Amino acid sequence: MKKGAIGIFDSGIGGLTVARSIRKLLPKEDLIYFGDTAHLPYGDKSKTAIQRFGLRISDWLLENDCKAIVIACNTASAHAYRAIRKKLDPSIPVINVIDPMAEIVAKSGLKSVGVIGTKGTIGSRVYVRKIHSLKSEIDVVSKATPLLAQMIEEGYFNNQISRTIIKSYLEGKAMEKVEGIVLGCTHYPLIKQEIQELTEKEIKIFDSSEVVALAVQKALKEGSLLNPSGGSQKFYVSDYTHSFEQSAEIFFREEIHLEKRDIWS
Ligand code: DGL
Repeated sequence: MKKGAIGIFDSGIGGLTVARSIRKLLPKEDLIYFGDTAHLPYGDKSKTAIQRFGLRISDWLLENDCKAIVIACNTASAHAYRAIRKKLDPSIPVINVIDPMAEIVAKSGLKSVGVIGTKGTIGSRVYVRKIHSLKSEIDVVSKATPLLAQMIEEGYFNNQISRTIIKSYLEGKAMEKVEGIVLGCTHYPLIKQEIQELTEKEIKIFDSSEVVALAVQKALKEGSLLNPSGGSQKFYVSDYTHSFEQSAEIFFREEIHLEKRDIWS
């Protein structure tokens, strides 16, 4: 099991921001990444559909000798984490992106935070529930920002169009008064700088990629599952296009090769 890989999945390539942080923190681990590009975006799919996708992908990762599962997608963490955790053997760590972030927010000392994410993540109210279960006094302002993931996936960031869209999402009394913003979608680290620049005052931006990598390290240590001698990485998608591969490199910041795997038939 020590030699097994860390299986990481997302609806597409946004989860590569998490994979990159795991790679940096745990260079000796083997990684298998699965982007469910055939079903992208998850943000507007039903809970039932996302549970079905998440359970099948987790099974496939285990069939490919993974020793731990990382749900590198907020929408899948919100809708499918419980079902995946319940189905898999308790000895297999399952790490979602929301729990470690809720803990950081609760400990931040901030009185109000904004959470931005897909319609699925925001509609589930999982962030609000988890933050409030740890610290009920924090005022949590949530906002669905459905255009952002697709905008980023298309390569639209750090330009006039992305600034206009981000600005319009951050407008409004409630959002303007928050002291921090949680990037509740694994695509958003790519627009972290723009968000920082577009907010009038200096605010804290919570980016889950590093926090999740630390949670993975902790879970592997606790299960005595750390690999002393690996370091391979493989990237699979359920639907391949050349443009996914190009965007994937922006997210992972390294040249990568995406292989298509049809795990649904
Ligand atoms: N990266 C996914 C997340 O963190 C969102 C993208 C999608 O809608 O598929 O929620």
